[in-house]
Parts: sequence; structure tokens; C-alpha cells
Amino acid sequence: MAREVTIGIVGAKFAGEFHADCWARVPGTRIAAVADLDEAARSRFQAKYRIPRAYATYRELIADREVELVDLCVPNFLHAEVAIAAMEAGRDVVCEKPLATTIADGERVVATQARTGRRLFYAEDWIFAPALVRAKAIAAEGGIGKPLYWRGKECHNGSHSPFAMKLKTCGGGSVIHLAVHPIGFFHHLLGMPKTVLGSCSGGGAKNLLHPQFEGEDWGIGILGYADGTKVVVEGNYVTAGGMEDCVEAYGSDGVIKVEMTFGSPLSVYSRKGFGYAIEKADFTHGWTRPAVDEHANLGYTDELAHFTACLRGEADQVRGTSARDGFNVLRIVDAIYQSHREGRLVELEGS
Ligand SMILES: NC(=O)c1ccc[n+]([C@@H]2O[C@H](COP(=O)([O-])OP(=O)(O)OC[C@H]3O[C@@H](n4cnc5c(N)ncnc54)[C@H](O)[C@@H]3O)[C@@H](O)[C@H]2O)c1
Repeated sequence: MAREVTIGIVGAKFAGEFHADCWARVPGTRIAAVADLDEAARSRFQAKYRIPRAYATYRELIADREVELVDLCVPNFLHAEVAIAAMEAGRDVVCEKPLATTIADGERVVATQARTGRRLFYAEDWIFAPALVRAKAIAAEGGIGKPLYWRGKECHNGSHSPFAMKLKTCGGGSVIHLAVHPIGFFHHLLGMPKTVLGSCSGGGAKNLLHPQFEGEDWGIGILGYADGTKVVVEGNYVTAGGMEDCVEAYGSDGVIKVEMTFGSPLSVYSRKGFGYAIEKADFTHGWTRPAVDEHANLGYTDELAHFTACLRGEADQVRGTSARDGFNVLRIVDAIYQSHREGRLVELEGS
């Protein structure tokens, strides 16, 4: 029998919830501890998932000798600090997106991973989303001829998390928080672009809809690859009607369209409404397309199963999930911001 992998989750709210739900589906894993500064959140989480120990601080969780893998579900600005502390203490790490909020912090994570030799799994779930895995296989088989142009976006009506609204705790706005997903997926698929052109709404009073967000509420990047392939990525907070996660591929002999969030086989008409349809949908009356299994559709379950298999030596970590990959994704995000600020095309070195 495969050995058990013991997990400590840091952050007991939104991302913590879907990680806990998905860990429960990965055989041979067990959540040994949770940490959250918020007493109410960690107690509720501990009781819901029957976790033996709950701590206020991540340092206590890292010191827990039963915790092998530290799963970071805390706000963006803490990713580098907690990942570094965990690897220094001999723990392996799952790091939610983004790897860090600044290039300097990202470099420190990469350096610590290399020095300690611990495993760091950059958790870009789109790499494991079943519909995208299938789309990638069809494109690789030549199903649309030579892929020429890809588009990807994650958009909704504004993050629920107060940490996402401040530059200091988020690292930016909708580009680093939402467009980071298509950027991570295309980095997995195509590697590093040579050129990046970015445009954003500017943050605060310059935003299209959300002046309370210090970072931009709309942003796009146009990525140019050495072989001529073009990619457009987008993240915005001005999209009503539920979260839109979409990828399109245009090839010399065909087209692929993936709708990860609105692609449900289920259609419901409800006069009174019901509990839940999809992430960030405002209501559930009238016609809706409720997700059948949102966590599996978005790739979280297969992602955590893959990381577990890597820890057991049963799989090689796929491209796009290393500390270096997470850092490269951050470089692309940073280049979009630089291009927007300076009003010019940015060339990425070493790509
Ligand atoms: N992959 C995805 O699709 C996806 C989706 C949502 C969020 N995320 C990522 O997950 C992370 C968490 O986001 P969220 O939406 O769950 O945020 P959230 O605000 O809902 O929850 C964050 C939790 O972290 C806790 N926390 C803050 N500082 C802490 C500290 N020093 N020590 C311990 N706990 C602390 C807070 O009390 C809170 O309970 C973010 O980095 C976000 O980018 C990823």
C-alpha cells in the first residue's frame, strides 16, 4: 500500500475549503493540522473536516512533526514567507497562485527551494482541469492543424477576499489574481513568451467598476512566442453572471472552445431559486447551468492527486508546477504591469 501523506493547511477560508474537499478525495492522504489567525474560521474548519489539531500561527503548524506537506491557502503576500519558512523547516509545500507578490520574493522562494532540496508544488489547477487536458491532447494530435492563436480568461464580479483588494496583500489586481490562471496554463503548454504587451484599467479611481480595489479591475496581456504563436490572456472583475473560465484555440485547420464554468451538462429553470449554481453567480432563479462538480472541473482534485503521486515517487512533476515555473508565471504578470506602466512592448530575457 502507498504510504500516507500528511497535510497541514494554512488558511481556513475559501481556498482552504476546496483544498480540504479535494484532499478528502485523494486516497492515502490525511489533514493533520490547520492554521488560521481567525479563531472562528479555524475552529469551524477543524470541526467540519475533523482535523486533529488547529493552530493560530503557521509557525506552530510547520513545527507540528506530523505535518509533511504544508498547503498554502493564505493571502498572496504570505505565500513567499510561509513557503520559505516551511522549506527551511524541512517541509514540502503546495503553493496557491501566485508564487509571490513581487519578483524579489519569488526569487527568494526559488533560491530556498534549490538550497533546501524540498519539493514545491505550484498549484495552477488549470493544468489539471479535465476539459483543458482533453483540449491540449486534441491540439497535440493535430486536431486543429497548427495552433496559431490561443485566448484564455478568468473573469467575475470581484473577489470576496479583503486581501485581494489591497496592492500590498494581493500584489496587483485582476491580472495577478485572475489572469494568472490562463498565464499559468499557457506557460505549461508553450513555455515562456518572447514579448509581452499589457493594458490595465489602472486601479482605484481609474477602474472601470470598482474604485475600492487598489489594483486594476480589468487587464489583458498579449504574449508573443518565438515560433510566431500569439496568446491573449485576460482577467477582469467587471463580469456579472458567475465566474467565466474560458480557453479558445485557433488553428490552421480548426478551432477549440473550452468553457470550464458554463459548460455544465445540467440546465435548471427555477422560479424560487436554490442553494448554489456556480462560483460568483448572484442568484439561482430562472435558467441556470449549475456546475456538476466544480472542484473536479477546475482541476483541483487531479492537481492534489498528482502532487501526492510525486511525493510518493510514482509520477514526475508536470511542467508548470515547479517553483521556477511559478516564478516564470510571475515574470509574465510583472511584464504585463511593466508594459502597461511604460506604454511599450516588453521583451523577456532568457525566454
Ligand atoms: N486556484 C484558485 O482557483 C484559487 C481560488 C481562490 C483563491 N485562491 C488563492 O488562495 C489563497 C487564499 O485565498 P482565499 O480566497 O481563500 O482568501 P480568504 O480571504 O477567503 O482566506 C484567507 C484566510 O487566511 C487567513 N490568514 C490571513 N493571514 C494569516 C496568517 N498570517 N496566518 C494564518 N492564516 C492567515 C485569514 O484569516 C483567512 O481565513 C490566495 O492566495 C488566492 O490567490 C486560489
